[in-house]
Amino acid sequence: MKHALVVGGTGMLSEVCTWLVDQDYHVSVIGRNPEKMSRLVGKTDKDKITSLLVDYKKVDQLNMLLKQTILENGPFTLVVAWVHTGGEQGLGKLIEIVAETNGTSELYHVLGSRAKLAEVKSALHIPRTCSYHQVQLGFKLEEDTGRWLKNHEIAEGVIEAIQYKAPTFLVGVLEPAEMRP
Ligand SMILES: NC(=O)c1ccc[n+]([C@@H]2O[C@H](COP(=O)([O-])OP(=O)(O)OC[C@H]3O[C@@H](n4cnc5c(N)ncnc54)[C@H](OP(=O)(O)O)[C@@H]3O)[C@@H](O)[C@H]2O)c1
Repeated sequence: MKHALVVGGTGMLSEVCTWLVDQDYHVSVIGRNPEKMSRLVGKTDKDKITSLLVDYKKVDQLNMLLKQTILENGPFTLVVAWVHTGGEQGLGKLIEIVAETNGTSELYHVLGSRAKLAEVKSALHIPRTCSYHQVQLGFKLEEDTGRWLKNHEIAEGVIEAIQYKAPTFLVGVLEPAEMRP
């Protein structure tokens, strides 16, 4: 079975996790809160989800859990990562582990509306065997106002990005800037 990893999969990416299970992936999910994790597991086939309850800023613990799930479920062929500021080291470790254990893999890096895509990419050491994709979250225009994206819209956008395999993919809009919520 294919093995996917979703970093931050218990929040706005929950629907991405359940969609991946439906696509026949075994899905390892990173989050800290056990209740949020149980809620996600309760929505899908629990045998196809591995909970990795860890703070991704604690790189040694992260390293250990990633290696363990790779041993049990195989190398990651797909990674979806939503990482807040401060978690860059964890993301770096994850990319390092993917490089060590994989043939080829796809990484979908989910980024906020203020992210500078080229700068983010150049700060990461992406191995040649990893296909790196960026999914930027913008906002929605509704009549004469802008609002932030809802979880379902974010998940739908990420799923579309995975299906299209686009190098960069925008969910919602970034313009007009003055309509940003
Ligand atoms: N452009 C937009 O419109 C936009 C962009 C971003 C967010 N939003 C909205 O804002 C809401 C809140 O955003 P959010 O950033 O809190 O996203 P979220 O996806 O709801 O929560 C963050 C996810 O990352 C995990 N996480 C956070 N810090 C972690 C850490 N140190 N170690 C391991 N896992 C960690 C959380 O799990 P734990 O809590 O268990 O650690 C959770 O799964 C979203 O639900 C979304 O609707 C909108």
